[in-house]
Amino acid sequence: MTEILVAYATKMGATKEIATRIRSASHEVTLQDAADVKTVQPYKAVVLGSALYAGRWRKEAVRLLTRNEKLLHSRPLWLFHSGPLGSEITPQPAPRKVREIAARLGAEEPFTFGGRLTRETATGFIARKMAQGPMAGDFRDWEEIDRWAYTIGQRLVAAR
Ligand SMILES: Cc1cc2nc3c(=O)[nH]c(=O)nc-3n(C[C@H](O)[C@H](O)[C@H](O)COP(=O)(O)O)c2cc1C
Repeated sequence: MTEILVAYATKMGATKEIATRIRSASHEVTLQDAADVKTVQPYKAVVLGSALYAGRWRKEAVRLLTRNEKLLHSRPLWLFHSGPLGSEITPQPAPRKVREIAARLGAEEPFTFGGRLTRETATGFIARKMAQGPMAGDFRDWEEIDRWAYTIGQRLVAAR
């Protein structure tokens, strides 16, 4: 049994790659699609990330939170989302439901990582159109992701 669950909700793969990178920070991590997580019961801590679409989280990530809220009261929880495109990546507000659950659990608001939207990875008409415009590109900052994962690791060690 591993200690930490890193779960993700993605449409075009960018958020899964961020979660995979976070996993590589520790051997004690299980990486799972949020849709496949039945319960967080086996884990001591949870990291959950979702892609942002029209200001919302993917429903499987929200569902993980709502279904496991009780168990999450006794487990450290870290949240992130992947979304903003362009040269200036600014922190994005979490959807209201996510914000409310995070507040009840005493978790910090989701950390914002830049997103990715490219012609190669875009799925769906709107995304493919957007991928031809000025928002196209990969704005994920891997060093920032590594730093965030490292910080979580440190805080988990400190909490032991
Ligand atoms: C139709 C559409 C809507 C989007 N809406 C948002 C948004 O509201 N906020 C945001 O920060 N990013 C938004 N994005 C950017 C995506 O969140 C970004 O490309 C993200 O990295 C995709 O993650 P995924 O590959 O894991 O699905 C949007 C992208 C598309 C195609």
